Amino acid sequence: MTGKTVLITGGTGGIGKAAAVGLASMGARVGITGRDRTRAERAAADIEAESGNSAVDIFVADLSSQAEVRRMAGEVLSAYQRLDVLVNNVGGFWSHRHTTADGLEHTFALNHLAPFLLTNLLLERLTDSAPARVVTVSSGAQLMGKIDFGDLMGEQDYSGQRAYNQSKLANVMFTYELARRLQGTGVTANVMHPGMTNTAFSAEDPARRMAPIVFAARPFMKSPKKGADTAIYLASSPEVENVCGLYFANRKGKETNRSSYDAATTARLWTVSAELVGLPIEAHR
Ligand SMILES: NC(=O)c1ccc[n+]([C@@H]2O[C@H](COP(=O)([O-])OP(=O)(O)OC[C@H]3O[C@@H](n4cnc5c(N)ncnc54)[C@H](OP(=O)(O)O)[C@@H]3O)[C@@H](O)[C@H]2O)c1
Repeated sequence: MTGKTVLITGGTGGIGKAAAVGLASMGARVGITGRDRTRAERAAADIEAESGNSAVDIFVADLSSQAEVRRMAGEVLSAYQRLDVLVNNVGGFWSHRHTTADGLEHTFALNHLAPFLLTNLLLERLTDSAPARVVTVSSGAQLMGKIDFGDLMGEQDYSGQRAYNQSKLANVMFTYELARRLQGTGVTANVMHPGMTNTAFSAEDPARRMAPIVFAARPFMKSPKKGADTAIYLASSPEVENVCGLYFANRKGKETNRSSYDAATTARLWTVSAELVGLPIEAHR
C-alpha cells in the first residue's frame, strides 16, 4: 500500500482504528475521522506507534450532520490530491429515536446517509485516482433488514433494532447500486460484515450496551484486529482488485438480503437518499 492514500471514517477506536493500523502497517498514508480532536490525535499517535508509519492524518467532524460531512469532504479534497481507498466504517445503534441537526432519524442519517453523501462528494477524486476502492462496513443485521419507504425515519413506529437492520441493509443496497454506477471507472465498491467484535459499539446507548444478550456475547466476540481483517483485505488485497459489488464476511463472498438484489429497489433508495442529502439524483451516473 506504499504510495496509496486511504480514508477511514471512525478511526478513533474499534474496527476503524484497527483497520487504520493494518493499512498504515502496509505503508499507506491513512486519514482517520472522529468527532473529537483530542481523541482523534490520541488515536493517530497510537496508530503511528503501532504501525511504525507516521503518515496518519486526522479529520474532525460529526458525520451525523450533512453540513459537517460536506465540510470534511472539502478538507479531504484539499489535503489529498489522490484518494485510493475510502472505508465507510462509522455506524451506531440507538434504542430510542433521536434526530440529527438535519431533523433526520439518527441511525439512518449516520449509518446510511453519511457514507452515501461522503462517497458521492469524494467520487470524482476516487475516479481520478483509479484504480481505487470503496469499502463499506455493514453488518449481518442486513439479513433482517427491510427498507420501509413509507416510514424511513421511524416516525410512525421506531425500534432501535429495526432502524439498525434497515441502515445496514441500506449499506448493502448503496454498494450494489454504486457498483452499477461505477462500471468502467476503475473504482470498485464492496461491502462487508466484520463479525461480532468487542469494541465500544453503542457506547452512547446504555440500553443496548448493557442488554443481556450483548453482555453475554462479549467474551466470544472477535478482537478489533480480527474484526477489521475483511475490511483491510478488501481495501488492499490484489485478490479483489477487480471485484466489485459483492458482500463479504471472513474474506468470503456471501449472499445478502433478498431485497438487496432488486435493482428497482436499490435505485429507488439511491434516489430517495440523494433527495435527503440534496444531491442531484443523477449524480455520477
Ligand atoms: N462491533 C460489532 O460487533 C459490529 C458488528 C457488525 C457491524 N459493525 C459495524 O462496524 C462499524 C464500526 O463499529 P465499531 O464496533 O468499531 O464501533 P465503535 O467502536 O463504536 O467505533 C465507532 C467509530 O465511529 C466514530 N463515530 C461514532 N459516531 C460518529 C459520528 N456521529 N460522527 C463521526 N464519527 C463517529 C467513533 O469516533 P468518535 O467517538 O471518536 O467520534 C469511532 O471511531 C459500524 O458501522 C458497525 O455498524 C460492528
